Amino acid sequence: MNMLHGHVAKPGEPQEVRDAPLGGGEAGTTSGGHVARAGVIDVSHNVILYLENITVAFDGFKALDALSLSIDDGEMRAIIGPNGAGKTTMMDVITGKTRPDTGTAFLGQTMDLTRMSEAQIARAGIGRKFQKPSVFEQASVLENLWLACAGDRGWFPSLRHRLAVGQRERIEQAMETVGLAAERDRVAGMLSHGQKQWLEIAMLLIQEPKLLLLDEPVAGLSDEETEKTAQLLRQLAGRHSLIVVEHDMHFVAQLQCRVTVLHQGSVLAEGDLETVQSDARVIEVYLGR
Ligand SMILES: Nc1ncnc2c1ncn2[C@@H]1O[C@H](COP(=O)(O)OP(=O)(O)OP(=O)(O)O)[C@@H](O)[C@H]1O
Ligand SMILES: [Mg+2]
Repeated sequence: MNMLHGHVAKPGEPQEVRDAPLGGGEAGTTSGGHVARAGVIDVSHNVILYLENITVAFDGFKALDALSLSIDDGEMRAIIGPNGAGKTTMMDVITGKTRPDTGTAFLGQTMDLTRMSEAQIARAGIGRKFQKPSVFEQASVLENLWLACAGDRGWFPSLRHRLAVGQRERIEQAMETVGLAAERDRVAGMLSHGQKQWLEIAMLLIQEPKLLLLDEPVAGLSDEETEKTAQLLRQLAGRHSLIVVEHDMHFVAQLQCRVTVLHQGSVLAEGDLETVQSDARVIEVYLGR
């Protein structure tokens, strides 16, 4: 039996995934052979994301090569590794943009990500922030957040009158969380690069994601903005699970979280930053360059 589902099947344990849009009925029926190996993946905690043996090949080149990884509910995890290690490809697999050739990918206990569309995965609670902020420059901070509330229902000017009380609260809360409440009426195009990044994070928070994926969130930010971003992400951990891909080791240190080093499409090392930084293989392929 798959250890993850063995763990999950215990009666009385909280069911963290309620609304599987697709494939929910197939919980526990991962294809045969993908059995978690004790000692490889720690499934003793409440797991929010579970990847096992994921392989993605482009014309025979393995961007991901039997990648196995598990993230606990509420955990923040930093992913580091050299260019081409497969970090972005891993996010593409998690969000359904790329289908793995082999392997298992689960959100929570029941959602088989390899059987869901990108839209279904987003609705199921995985939010992704790309490196370049994609806020609407002509719109104010508040209008950007209304837009995020509208989600895939589309945007029209009368939206503000149609927002439910709960949505208004979520907007206020998201603005407070990212420190943009005082900038609510400013046009997003006038914000600093860091503020735009935070606005985009706020737009993701509106969707109340279970898991947030952030690809190089502090690239191009000032030291002060980088520090504020680390603070913000630390604050989000617990309520959300986070996967943060970053090359900036100073920032990774500020996240104070577990670190996974990817290399050639699989996990090279994992542990606290100090441990992986002193790992000879990590120094050789990445940090020592
Ligand atoms: N669509 C694609 N077609 C062919 N090769 C690809 C494709 N996407 C990624 N690759 C290759 O897969 C490997 C992993 O790329 P990926 O973008 O995941 O690396 P990364 O760890 O995010 O690197 P970086 O730190 O530079 O962002 C690279 O060698 C890349 O050239
Ligand atoms: Mg990348």
